[in-house]
Amino acid sequence: MFGKKKQTPQIDKEQLELIQNAQKRIRQKKRLYIHFVVFLIGALFLILFNIVLGFGKDFKILETDWFVFAILGWLFLLLYHTFNVFVTHKFMGKDWEKAELDKLVAKQQQRIEQLKKGFLKEEKLMAQSEAYNTVKSETKPVQQTTPKTKDLTIIVAAAENNAIGKDNDLIWHLSDDLKRFKNLTNGHHIIMGRKTFESFPKPLPNRTHIVITRQANYNVPDGVITVNSLASAIEACDSDTQPYIIGGGEIYKQAMLFANTIELTRVHHSFEADTFFPEIDTTIWKETHNEFHDKDEKHQYAFSFITYKRR
Ligand SMILES: NC(=O)c1ccc[n+]([C@@H]2O[C@H](COP(=O)([O-])OP(=O)(O)OC[C@H]3O[C@@H](n4cnc5c(N)ncnc54)[C@H](OP(=O)(O)O)[C@@H]3O)[C@@H](O)[C@H]2O)c1
Repeated sequence: MFGKKKQTPQIDKEQLELIQNAQKRIRQKKRLYIHFVVFLIGALFLILFNIVLGFGKDFKILETDWFVFAILGWLFLLLYHTFNVFVTHKFMGKDWEKAELDKLVAKQQQRIEQLKKGFLKEEKLMAQSEAYNTVKSETKPVQQTTPKTKDLTIIVAAAENNAIGKDNDLIWHLSDDLKRFKNLTNGHHIIMGRKTFESFPKPLPNRTHIVITRQANYNVPDGVITVNSLASAIEACDSDTQPYIIGGGEIYKQAMLFANTIELTRVHHSFEADTFFPEIDTTIWKETHNEFHDKDEKHQYAFSFITYKRR
């Protein structure tokens, strides 16, 4: 009862498949060999029937004995059989061909995913070094070549079709979303494009505004910082471990390479818009939190607060 368990040889699925295919191949070759022998004997019989026994002696096609055509026809079938076995490999059947094709496609897809990941990593490094080099050459003296930022967070409200704005304004009003925006960004640096800044009636209280613009002499109220690139904006938040990128479309697009977190309010509706949030690539971003809010008297649309972390 407690004796040693008998060892049974383990063959994995692929090995079994290989053995089965090898057996099929042997059977197929055997059949071809039998076909060849039967052909030789058959051809001999046809010749004997006609020449020795005189069977159908008077029946001719194009002045040629009928058995010549019969043998040629048969030879053609034999050659076709040989061609299938050795050239097109049809002997494995449609299922085998499909399985092999599926395997090949899966392998290619795996390879594409790997290349994609490698490419995105490289792209991020390139963008960072390019951006930081710009900062380095523009800021004197430069203390850091990389920002100390710990959690650079994109905060955005986007519709199902990724719409975020129209005519330099927001499209919807969702009071709980505004409350969440205020709570999260309170006391932090908020980075924004010049157009988003201009969409505010006045700067938001208790936040450090960093406005990105290419204009050299862009006028802003006291306390608002202007910079001329996203990298400089990140650099300007050095003292803050949790700065927020608050939009708009142009800045979000560039910030997707730098951010570690996305705080998304997904508005469950599609809108006509002129500004959109980039598609969130789930091979790069992992959803870590999702909280649904149905529509009610204060909220015209249902929405979800979703947090994504960089993988
Ligand atoms: N739903 C949301 O959560 C949300 C959040 C924020 C904004 N929005 C909406 O988004 C829309 C505004 O977005 P937008 O894409 O039109 O504009 P934006 O991103 O706010 O600002 C674009 C401006 O930023 C500056 N800029 C961009 N990239 C730069 C770079 N690499 N270096 C230097 N300056 C740079 C340029 O300013 P200059 O032209 O001055 O050089 C550019 O015109 C509005 O409709 C707003 O309501 C929606």
